[in-house]
Amino acid sequence: MNPLELARARPGEAFTVTFDGRPVTALPGQTVAAALWAAGVTAWRSTRGAGRPRGVFCGIGVCFDCLVTVNGRANQRACLIPVHPGDVIRTQEGTGR
Ligand code: FES
Repeated sequence: MNPLELARARPGEAFTVTFDGRPVTALPGQTVAAALWAAGVTAWRSTRGAGRPRGVFCGIGVCFDCLVTVNGRANQRACLIPVHPGDVIRTQEGTGR
């Protein structure tokens, strides 16, 4: 049983976004992080010093580990921002500059 079935959720129609150029299916109400997780992506940033992979750590907007580039805007917290149809999500390296 998946989480949607456990919560008896009835989300709207799925839509498509892209992550580093590949299509990812997302549901209304998901955050960028939730959509990426559902697609099996767990890391989407590399640290500026050692280039180590990062994704969600706190999940509540506190740690800034989940920074990602969305529609050309760097440093977006994937755990907080909702995903929208057609969003272009890209891996972020370092500070995103
Ligand atoms: S996971 Fe900590 S701010 Fe997003």
